[in-house]
Amino acid sequence: MTVATEGKTMTGELSRRTVLKGAAAASLIGGTVGFGTSAHAATTSPAADGLARKLSVIGTPVSRIDGRAKVTGEAKYAAEFQAPDLAYGSMVTSTIARGRIAAIDAAEALRVPGVLDVLTHANRPAMADRDEAYHDDAAPDGSPFRPLFDDRVLFNGQPVAVVLAEDIETARFAASLVKIEYAAETPATDLEAERSHAVVVEKPWKGRGDAASAFASAPVKLEAEYFIPMEHHNPMELYAATAVWESDGNLTVYDKTQGVQNVQRYLCGVFALEPEQVRVVAPYVGGAFGSGLRPQFEVVLAAQGALKLKRSVRVVLTRAQMYGLGYRPATIERLSLGAKHDGTLDAVTHEAIAMTSRFEQFSRHDTSWSGLLYKSATARYVHRLAALDLPTSCDMRAPGAATGVYALECAMDELAVALKMDPLELRLRCYSERDQNDDIPYTSKRLRECYHQAAQRFGWERRSAAPRSMRDGHELIGWGMASGIWEALQIKHTARITLAADGGAEVACATMDIGTGTYTVMAQVAAEMLGLPVERITVKLGDSSLPQAQIEGGSWGAASVSHAILRAATELRGALLTLAQATPNSPLAGLRAEETILADGRLVALQDPARAVATADLLHQAGLPTISKEAESGFEPDDRHAHNTHAAIFAEVRVDEELAIVRVTRVVSAVAAGRIINPKTAHSQIMGGIVWGIGMALHEETLIDHRFGRVMNANIAEYHIPAHADVRNIDAFFVDELDTVINPLGVKGVGEIGLVGVAAAIANAVYHATGKRIRDLPITLDKVLLRDRA
Ligand code: MOS
Repeated sequence: MTVATEGKTMTGELSRRTVLKGAAAASLIGGTVGFGTSAHAATTSPAADGLARKLSVIGTPVSRIDGRAKVTGEAKYAAEFQAPDLAYGSMVTSTIARGRIAAIDAAEALRVPGVLDVLTHANRPAMADRDEAYHDDAAPDGSPFRPLFDDRVLFNGQPVAVVLAEDIETARFAASLVKIEYAAETPATDLEAERSHAVVVEKPWKGRGDAASAFASAPVKLEAEYFIPMEHHNPMELYAATAVWESDGNLTVYDKTQGVQNVQRYLCGVFALEPEQVRVVAPYVGGAFGSGLRPQFEVVLAAQGALKLKRSVRVVLTRAQMYGLGYRPATIERLSLGAKHDGTLDAVTHEAIAMTSRFEQFSRHDTSWSGLLYKSATARYVHRLAALDLPTSCDMRAPGAATGVYALECAMDELAVALKMDPLELRLRCYSERDQNDDIPYTSKRLRECYHQAAQRFGWERRSAAPRSMRDGHELIGWGMASGIWEALQIKHTARITLAADGGAEVACATMDIGTGTYTVMAQVAAEMLGLPVERITVKLGDSSLPQAQIEGGSWGAASVSHAILRAATELRGALLTLAQATPNSPLAGLRAEETILADGRLVALQDPARAVATADLLHQAGLPTISKEAESGFEPDDRHAHNTHAAIFAEVRVDEELAIVRVTRVVSAVAAGRIINPKTAHSQIMGGIVWGIGMALHEETLIDHRFGRVMNANIAEYHIPAHADVRNIDAFFVDELDTVINPLGVKGVGEIGLVGVAAAIANAVYHATGKRIRDLPITLDKVLLRDRA
């Protein structure tokens, strides 16, 4: 198996380090692909993996198996784990964005009864001196931030001291007494003001042909610039770490993260510890959306406190302090589209300028979706990065695509207006059957079906084309649409299955459930493979001591872990078969593991159900209480296919003509994402994505006072995310998409695909309602009220 370390995936650096490209199923499973051809094809699977029967658990809407634990409060999050003698840390953060700490006076804080210590760069425990020690699995190029390392201030809100006390109230109060003097320098945090200093970042896609000439001679031209502001993740669970000082001096760290083994490796690097000395645990995560892909500073601060005090320490960030973590970079997106009058695209140029910190070059791929999604003879992509006095930007749901495809899909709408063509018709005319960037086929692509089904459910054919031509009383009605695209990624996971003599089983992997439904999906796949009801499966995840898994993100979790489970189940059948065949006259004599299935507590010959042995008998005879096997998902690099999920989104807005209030009254989204393991949890992912899209279109924006480089709306009162009143009728559904190439189960993964394109569909609907083309998000009522019609 080869790791594609330079794989050309859209998600860029994140994938470059970690992603194994998709699998060629036939070579993986070494046998015929047993998909049927009827309308029910999606419910049968490859014979060689022991799935030749109808699937009975995969594909069914099983309710979250962790749902009860969550609603009863039994599910514990990072800040809820207890330890004897627990101390509490409260952060002091910088009030300047650039400069040095000249002096720290902690005397008054230290005099408060109950205060144990005040950690600063001057008295913290030893930390590594090399950048490599701080390079986590998702680190971009550059020099990672080192909490409390030295006197440099790199961004406003940076932790500069931690007060450790017997209780949280004392710690917080004492933190307010720490006095810090700075040698401040003038910060630069405004992307628009710094855009001319942005430098070009090399990306794998160079484009094709001479886009500039093709654009110059195109009969119909569209050039426009779009802006997506800085946004913050705002997960419900606050960032927190409880570092438990064990009696042997080892650390058990409960952290809010999207990768326990990533955090474990990072802590070992930073504090020169051995893997046996640090265990990182996160059984439940209250949302993260990319902000937890990299270790955040709460976990370093808690570990510093524990190492300094030699006792357990908890650090919980306040909501305001979480605005000092990463964010979706503000991005300027420039599109030039050149077309013939019939809608044929001749030229696509997509240029992006995004922001990052001065110490790390975080960037994702915003631009090349534009020449991938649609047929165009020529394409050109340029990505620039502006380094600012801010924390490093980071992944936030569908990084690169949420922003880049927003711009593309608005530009396509503008082009349709220029062509006097229906925007859906324009997409169909530019439809690409092959990946245009690499000229290769998709493993599967049913975007056309998404367009048709969503348009029909929405009633698109009843749309009257002219802006301001649909109204209901004092409300202008607008209908807009857009396409969505994301990657179907798969990365290396190892799963372990343990089958007990009583017929129950445990499936374990160090992957995460970040709220997406991993527990349930793992239980379903294991139940299917073992022929057991879901209730007999126990799932273990979110613990660095379990079989390896890389960070959970990029929508790769379901495909990756389910493949590992499938392989572990095959190994397990092999081990059981060996036990069976050790018995004289075994009914399973002469069979290979691939020729058996597990069903109803028995190992059964695939071709002859009468040949079977009870697994409990096999274990009893061998004197084994349990039998356990683990296996790695093995994806071969597949450069012969493009791996993508797709969506078609239709949105209705109503705009109050006098007050300019915009309401999204209806969204229909059709998603093609291969086999859906759990239609219920997957549907929730798409619903969540659509709500994010409403926020992105109308509400979300992190505002910085550029004089101080400080976030002004660091709270979810003034940083508005959609509330119930903002969310009306959402109709999200999956289009059947049979994929016999990507992996044996045909799973592509969902999550991010739910968001991509939604903001564009809404922005296009606002144009249709009002005749005003608002290209800078969010579309707030002042813009709707004060701007001129296009
Ligand atoms: Mo996702 S932005 O990879 O958590």
